[in-house]
Amino acid sequence: RQNARESLYIILNFAKNHYQHQLYNTEEGQAVGLSYFQERGFSEGVRKKFELGYSLDNWDAFTREALEKGYSAEVLEKAGLLIHKEGSKTAGYDRFRGRVIFPIHNVAGKTIAFGARILKTDKSQPKYLNSPETEVYHKSDILYGIFQAKNAIRQQEHCYLVEGYTDVISLHQAGIENVVASSGTSLTVEQIRLIARFTPNITILYDGDIAGIKAALRGLDLVLEEGLNVNIVLFPDGDDPDSYVRKVGAEAFKNYIKVSAQDFITFKTQTLLQDAGNDPFRLAAVIGEVVNSIVKIPDAIKRQVFFHRTAEMMKVDEQMLISEGNKLLRKLH
Ligand code: GTP
Ligand code: MN
Ligand code: MN
Ligand code: MN
Ligand code: MN
Repeated sequence: RQNARESLYIILNFAKNHYQHQLYNTEEGQAVGLSYFQERGFSEGVRKKFELGYSLDNWDAFTREALEKGYSAEVLEKAGLLIHKEGSKTAGYDRFRGRVIFPIHNVAGKTIAFGARILKTDKSQPKYLNSPETEVYHKSDILYGIFQAKNAIRQQEHCYLVEGYTDVISLHQAGIENVVASSGTSLTVEQIRLIARFTPNITILYDGDIAGIKAALRGLDLVLEEGLNVNIVLFPDGDDPDSYVRKVGAEAFKNYIKVSAQDFITFKTQTLLQDAGNDPFRLAAVIGEVVNSIVKIPDAIKRQVFFHRTAEMMKVDEQMLISEGNKLLRKLH
């Protein structure tokens, strides 16, 4: 089993080098891939740091080269790089074709998977294709960029969590290096614990669209349960951290975060209150939801602060919230 994993790391590393080679040293890679990254404003520095690459628009350019170098079709398939159709006489075809490549690294810096973006948005194909789950890639356990971010996270005692690969890369380019991405999925306990190894302080920087807000609300009780301090910043609708930092620059970006960051409980209370309007039944449901989140916080002093704060926001009696909270806490323990 150890050997099986080791051979996946080796082929994934070979693939990463191959995609980088295609990006810089082929006509197609330069004309299509490199100019795409340049148009997005990715400097050579961040392209190399994140080991970005390009997969040729060809059915099996990668597979043929890997087989020639002596890698087996079986290992290629297990690494998620080769798609083999049952009963087909050929070895199969490349999973990633005609896309720019974002290698995904584990905490130690080994390549464990790839994300691959099409160049022109075309509704018939997914914008991003990712490696499937493999023996070395469990997507619920990893955050994109953790290897490149971990020292900065530790140093600054703070981690930014964004949605996408390009958000991570653009922030690095702007000098903000304590950033990881959930890659569009809801947060898992494993991912939160991964951040918690380096810091208890997280600020979520999600896209200002409905999907971003929903994703933030979904992940968050989990983060509170792990005892982390969570703040949230939403970007103006239509912007994400990547587009926003390129629009306004690093200094204005940092300032925007400073003035817009809200703690998660306040954010949740406000969002739910807005949705509920004046309907008393829906207001009652909001109170229940908010108490439910507050009791997830392990620290009693922090809970008290939030009972006080949210009672004011919801215009209800603080003692009532506390006693509802205590009922729930007794059930939890
Ligand atoms: P750009 O359009 O390149 O700026 O990417 P983005 O990161 O801003 O994309 P978006 O906000 O739409 O999605 C956030 C993240 O969700 C992406 O970085 C991907 O990790 C993931 N994602 C988006 N679209 C897809 C898709 O079609 N398939 C899969 N598997 N993941 C996706
Ligand atoms: Mn797992
Ligand atoms: Mn989005
Ligand atoms: Mn984007
Ligand atoms: Mn985005």
